[in-house]
Amino acid sequence: MVFKDLREAIREIDKWGLLRRVNVPVNPELEVAEIARRVMYSRGPTLLFENIKGFPGWRMATNLFRDIDTIKRLLNVDRLEDIGERLIKPLTTPPPLGLTDKIQSLYDVIKIGMYTPRKTSRGLFMDNTIERDGFDKTPIPKIWPLDAGRYITYGLVLSRDPESGVSNMGVYRVQIIDGNRAIMHWQIHKRGHMAWWKAKKTKLKSVRVAIAVGSDPGTMLTGALPVPYPLDKLLFASVVRGSPLDVVDLDGVLVPSNSEVVYVGEVDTETLLDEGPFGDHTGYYTPPAKYPLFKLERVYYRDDPIFYFTVVGKPILEDAWIGKAAERIFLPFMRMLMPEIVDVNLPPEGLFTGGIAIVSIRKIYPGHAKKVMLGLWGLGLFSLVKVIIVVDHDVNVHDIGQVFYAISTCVDPQRDVLVIPHAVTDELDHTAMEGGYGSKLGIDATRKMKVENYGRDWPIEVEPDPETIKLVDSRWREYGIS
Ligand SMILES: Cc1cc2nc3c(=O)[nH]c(=O)nc-3n(C[C@H](O)[C@H](O)[C@H](O)COP(=O)(O)O)c2cc1C
Repeated sequence: MVFKDLREAIREIDKWGLLRRVNVPVNPELEVAEIARRVMYSRGPTLLFENIKGFPGWRMATNLFRDIDTIKRLLNVDRLEDIGERLIKPLTTPPPLGLTDKIQSLYDVIKIGMYTPRKTSRGLFMDNTIERDGFDKTPIPKIWPLDAGRYITYGLVLSRDPESGVSNMGVYRVQIIDGNRAIMHWQIHKRGHMAWWKAKKTKLKSVRVAIAVGSDPGTMLTGALPVPYPLDKLLFASVVRGSPLDVVDLDGVLVPSNSEVVYVGEVDTETLLDEGPFGDHTGYYTPPAKYPLFKLERVYYRDDPIFYFTVVGKPILEDAWIGKAAERIFLPFMRMLMPEIVDVNLPPEGLFTGGIAIVSIRKIYPGHAKKVMLGLWGLGLFSLVKVIIVVDHDVNVHDIGQVFYAISTCVDPQRDVLVIPHAVTDELDHTAMEGGYGSKLGIDATRKMKVENYGRDWPIEVEPDPETIKLVDSRWREYGIS
């Protein structure tokens, strides 16, 4: 099933027994966030708050992406890798020779074309408008006590590239200053920032931006996916949904028609303000840094609107499952660029692209593990990963015990540890020399070939005698152990 919008997905989650409605009045200031965190830490249900203090008629929702199984059900797939393969498979399958293969291959290519978003003249979000002080009239939450203010924490920030017209859609937090002004926290490596930077370079005074809150699960998830430019993010959302997304042209910005709330305005290319502090994905407050001003012009919202929000902090919260989904969806892309890659694990406690990645490879030649590290550090948002551990193909990257064993038995630190100083890092990493500028650590935990191993053969790994295995198997009950 492809969900029409957020409310249909919530209704379905309710049928699955995974929704809790909260009817007592709750305060968007700190209270909803505290409830959300407790529920997320205990792997609890999706929440729908139906009585928001100070905002009659509004509802708030969170924890839609409550775990990987729920995400798979919401996207109607058994494996999240299948989503990446929808794009990769037609490009990587050998050219068809037989007629049936040719028809199948043509169908796969046509299917990509069928995902093209469709323009509609009227969005579902156009039921109501607010012309002034829209940020004060919508239930935007405050998440942590020392946050600089209220934040839109799961807004799909929509813009278009000023040169190519390609659509961007990123989940970037938005700090509210007052009823009509906010600060746009798009970090330097993100596509929204790139569009803004191009506009600034060509002396444009502003970039048109819409912030959409609440859409169907596939579109919402896509906002947080590191889709490389110039792939159109709305096209990618259609691929993730498995069906074309309906969009509305709002003064040049294409906006998902099924959005619950849409804030429209522009981001100034000249005015930079102190954004933060904000209690971040790291579990620490990120100190203030300069980000551009967003000037709100109008708010659109549906009848009976649902305002979607999330909370970030020490893992594991909802963002961890979103990160895991991104890891799985992009694995086919990584394998296309580096076919030696077998599997990847970005553990939630490793903070995803901000932290630690474990990668298994089918090793063929000396120095192979370092080649993979360097390749990954050159690959889109993977370039922000601080620590990469490379292991052999037979190590299960999701079993941290196996990874530790590989490090203990295959790593000679002076040979296998690579430190790259003065490199690009995640701007949230407070350990770096400066915001976004620090160092990298690579650990080659693969078994070493003779040339890598100071000219010595790699030792033989212990294996039991096959005849004795058979004997013990056949006599196992006799021993009376289990
Ligand atoms: C809950 C949540 C909040 C996020 N907040 C921000 C943010 O404030 N700024 C930012 O640059 N990225 C943020 N991200 C990460 C981006 O959404 C992610 O890097 C995505 O790839 C951005 O889209 P883009 O690659 O098209 O720019 C957040 C992700 C999640 C899941």
